[in-house]
Amino acid sequence: MINFKELAQEYKTPLYIYDLDYMTAQYNELKQAFKGRKSILAYAVKANSNLSVIKHFADLGSGADCVSIGEVRRAILAGIPAYRIIFSGVGKNDDEIREAIQKDILYINVESEAELKRVELIAKELDTICRISVRVNPNIDPKTHPYISTGLHGNKFGVDINSAKRMYILAKNSKNLDPVGIHFHIGSQLTELEPIYEAAAIVADMLRSLEAIDIELKFFDVGGGLGIKYNDEITIKPYDYAQAVLSALKGLDLTVICEPGRFLTANAGYFVTKVLYEKKNEQKRFVVVDGAMNDLLRPALYDAYHKIEAITESDSKLSKADIVGPVCESGDFFAKDYPLVDLQPNDLLVIHSAGAYGFGMGSNYNTRGRSAELALKGGEARLIRKRETFEDLIALEKDFLD
Ligand SMILES: Cc1ncc(COP(=O)(O)O)c(C=O)c1O
Repeated sequence: MINFKELAQEYKTPLYIYDLDYMTAQYNELKQAFKGRKSILAYAVKANSNLSVIKHFADLGSGADCVSIGEVRRAILAGIPAYRIIFSGVGKNDDEIREAIQKDILYINVESEAELKRVELIAKELDTICRISVRVNPNIDPKTHPYISTGLHGNKFGVDINSAKRMYILAKNSKNLDPVGIHFHIGSQLTELEPIYEAAAIVADMLRSLEAIDIELKFFDVGGGLGIKYNDEITIKPYDYAQAVLSALKGLDLTVICEPGRFLTANAGYFVTKVLYEKKNEQKRFVVVDGAMNDLLRPALYDAYHKIEAITESDSKLSKADIVGPVCESGDFFAKDYPLVDLQPNDLLVIHSAGAYGFGMGSNYNTRGRSAELALKGGEARLIRKRETFEDLIALEKDFLD
C-alpha cells in the first residue's frame, strides 16, 4: 500500500509517483510469454521517458523503441545498449538519421520510400551501411480510439505491402543499406487479439514472399499496443498475445521484438493532486484541484477515463462532481460527473493509471511548472525529477529581454 498522504506531505503536490516494482513484474510477465523464442522487449520510451524509468528497464535487459533522436540519446544515457535501440517515426530529419547511424543502433525503422532513399544517401555520405526495417501498414482496424489507431491506410504511419516490397528490393540492392527487420504497430490500448493476429499474419506472409526472393530478415517487430485496465476493460493476457504472434510466425526463425509502453508503465503510475476548493452552482459540483491538463492531458485529449481515489476523512454520501484544474480552458478536467464524497481543502485525489503518456505529454501552459516525479522501489521513495521552478520556465527567454 502506498502512503500517498505521507508522500504528498514530503514532496508536495501535484506529484507523479511510479511503482518500479510493478514495472518489473509487467516486464517479466511479457518477457516470459515469449520464452522459447529469441525475443527483445524494446521499451517504448515515449510512454514515460524519465531517465530513471528508462534505466530501470535497462537494468532488466530491455531495449528501447525511440521516436526522436532525443529519445535515442535518453535511452543511451540511461544505459540501454545501442544494439538494442530502434528508431521509428514518420518524420526523421537528416541530422537525426545521421546521428542514429553514427550511434550504430540496431536499426532505423523506415516509414516511407522517400525516407529510405534519404537514409541511403546519408549512409553513403558516411561511407557506411545502415541497418533498416520497414514499417508495414497492414490496413487492419485495431478497434481502439481513433487518435491512437495507426495501422489503417487512413493513418500516416508506415507503408502498404506493395511499397514495402519495393523498398526491401531497393535496400537489398543498395551498398549502403542492410534490411534486417520488418515492423508493424497497429495502435495503442488494444484489447482485442484478432486484429493483432491478422496484422501479424499479413506481415508474416510478406516475410515468406521476401524469403522467396532471397531477402532474409532477422527481426519481426510487432510494435507495442497491449492495452491495460483503466476501468473495466477486458485486456489481453501477455501469454495469449505472444501465442497469437508466434502462431502467425510459424516456420519462420526470427527474433521477435515487442515495443510495449503503456503495458509496462501505465498502471505503475499515480498522479497525486490536492483539493483547493469545492464550488457549486444550480447545475454542477466542481472540485478544483492543484493539478491540471498541463500535467495530465489524457482526459482533455482523448476524453480518457482514469480511476480517481479520494484520500480524505470525509465519509459523506457520494455525489457527482467535475474534477477540474486551474488552467483557463474548459477542457481542463480529470473527470466529469465522477462520484465523490464531500471534500475539504488539502484532501488528496489520486489519479490512477497515470504512468504512461502522463508526465511526457505535459507542458508549461499557463506558465505552470511541471510536477515532480517520484519512484518507489522495494518500499523506498526516491525523487527522480525535481519540480520545475519559475526560473526553469524562463531560462531560455530571459536573456532576450531588451
Ligand atoms: C512504433 C510504436 N511502438 C510502440 C508504441 C508503444 O505503444 P503502447 O504504449 O501502446 O505499447 C507506439 C505508440 O505509439 C509506437 O508508435
